[in-house]
Amino acid sequence: MKKINLGVVGATGVVGETFLQLIEEREFPAGEIRLFASEASQGKTRNCQGQDIAIQTLSEGCFDGLDLVFFSSGDDISKEWAPKAMAAGAIAVDNSAAFRMDERFPLVVPEVNGDLLPKPGNATIIANPNCSTIQLVVALAPLAKKYGLKGVRVASYQSVSGAGRNGIEELLTSTRVALEGEDITKSETFPAPIPFNSIPQIGRFDDAGFCTEEVKIMKETSKILRLPNLPVSAFTVRVPTLNSHAEAVWATLEKPDLSVADVTNTLKSAPGVEVTAPNESPGYPTQKFASGRDPVYVGRIHRDLFDKNTWLMWVVADNLRKGAALNGIQIAEHIFDLK
Ligand SMILES: NC(=O)c1ccc[n+]([C@@H]2O[C@H](COP(=O)([O-])OP(=O)(O)OC[C@H]3O[C@@H](n4cnc5c(N)ncnc54)[C@H](OP(=O)(O)O)[C@@H]3O)[C@@H](O)[C@H]2O)c1
Repeated sequence: MKKINLGVVGATGVVGETFLQLIEEREFPAGEIRLFASEASQGKTRNCQGQDIAIQTLSEGCFDGLDLVFFSSGDDISKEWAPKAMAAGAIAVDNSAAFRMDERFPLVVPEVNGDLLPKPGNATIIANPNCSTIQLVVALAPLAKKYGLKGVRVASYQSVSGAGRNGIEELLTSTRVALEGEDITKSETFPAPIPFNSIPQIGRFDDAGFCTEEVKIMKETSKILRLPNLPVSAFTVRVPTLNSHAEAVWATLEKPDLSVADVTNTLKSAPGVEVTAPNESPGYPTQKFASGRDPVYVGRIHRDLFDKNTWLMWVVADNLRKGAALNGIQIAEHIFDLK
């Protein structure tokens, strides 16, 4: 099999490091691997598939000869450099929000709309959705396909790793300080102190009162499910957990008179989903359990008391894996026909 020459931009970040881990774990057929980060990482190396690789900074021509480049360095870097990777003949898989709503490029979760992916050799940009959107659509798509979907409400409980390495470091450091008795009143990374707290804001607020993360979930979900008129309402909250995002979801289906068994069995047979049975202790997935694992876990499936078409469920996934790097690797595996 032809080896794939690949680049990882943001290789020293928490998503970038997860990419490197998954490239090894999934025995991705990598040829040359080029790693990129900021000037602060010059002189550092990372090991991947037995090679010690020096971290480079981005420069003109740095993608020449690459077939595939994963981007996880934020919106501004992707806006400037993903088109350059494409111009150099590579497929750019972008984890930032820069191209997600851009009609020229597909926004893909392979289990849901992998049919939009190009064949190898077609240089383009593929947008990787927001982490909270990915796990939501993996759980909603099988229900939408079988029963029709009329509307979605979601409340998220998002871990600090969603804010990158700084988020993790701040939770660990400031919790230690708080445990020593100091009153934490400020945060470098979050809008409010994170130890022993919940913060109902991820990103900036718009005029309607929604924050950026909520707008991403609402817009991306209907784009990926190809339901442009689907009402989606999201409320996002940062919680002091280290990794994985959890979501309480209310999905209103077209088809009435479904049983818990119908909905559960549909989810059980869906790609990428694992249903946690109520008799498995504690009977539902948790963020700690999902961390380091690949599936989107669903539990607590039950019908709303007041609207028989509405189903409640608890959806949990590792935001660094399925919410970011794993989805990116699966996009590449799909394009290069590796699985
Ligand atoms: N964390 C998540 O759960 C998640 C999920 C989905 C999508 N994303 C997206 O993935 C991206 C990365 O997030 P993250 O959580 O991995 O953040 P992170 O841990 O803060 O890592 C940021 C990475 O970007 C690199 N970088 C910064 N400036 C750069 C520059 N000028 N040139 C090249 N690289 C540069 C950093 O390099 P240095 O180490 O040298 O500073 C680091 O490797 C963001 O767009 C984020 O929105 C994150």
